[in-house]
Amino acid sequence: MELGILREGINEVIATTAGEYRENEGDTDTGTITLRPNAAPMGIFCRKGKIRMRVYRGTHTEENMRRHGWVVANVTHDPVVFVETAFGDIGEERFTEITNDGKTFYRLKDCEAWVAFKCAIIHAGEEVTIFELHPITEEICSCEVHPHNRGFASVIDATILGTRYVMFRDEAILEKIRYHRDIAVKCGSDREKEAIELLDKSIE
Ligand SMILES: Cc1cc2nc3c(=O)[nH]c(=O)nc-3n(C[C@H](O)[C@H](O)[C@H](O)COP(=O)(O)O)c2cc1C
Repeated sequence: MELGILREGINEVIATTAGEYRENEGDTDTGTITLRPNAAPMGIFCRKGKIRMRVYRGTHTEENMRRHGWVVANVTHDPVVFVETAFGDIGEERFTEITNDGKTFYRLKDCEAWVAFKCAIIHAGEEVTIFELHPITEEICSCEVHPHNRGFASVIDATILGTRYVMFRDEAILEKIRYHRDIAVKCGSDREKEAIELLDKSIE
């Protein structure tokens, strides 16, 4: 399968999906169902011509992909967005709609590139669902060059560790987060420092 904007290996992106919400929660017969966009950092595995995601059960992303059969991978180098979407929700004004072949998807308004995928379940485990992805359409929105920055890379690592720390509260994980925090502060820009401060608050 053509990889398009993605690269061989694991691509760390912001996955956008849509969740269903009942307006009138208490009354299941009369409540109207509306779609609301959701964003979360996710890894997209590109190996040997296959594009896959391993998504934990219990996440909004897993439920939305299973229900609607699509996901959009948003490429961004904004470290704050990774932290914001890993630990909470962002406002609807930060999404925009894509329409393709009569179908509507959501993507981040502010991203460098995006690719919309159809997805099918290839393994449904108790903890993780594995999806195979098939690209539908994609766009490159900006052609900024990003020289490698260890601070940005460390924010991503610290954020992944942070999502585990809030579940297990393990001191060994916290130690690794501290290691990455030091690199983020030493090598990153003000935006990496802002992301690390937000991460500290999010895992308190
Ligand atoms: C860089 C990064 C990559 C991640 N990759 C995955 C992944 O591949 N699968 C997964 O289930 N969770 C992954 N996570 C954790 C989810 O982002 C996290 O559980 C999030 O809260 C899920 O949000 P949701 O409930 O809105 O889907 C990743 C986190 C980060 C920071």
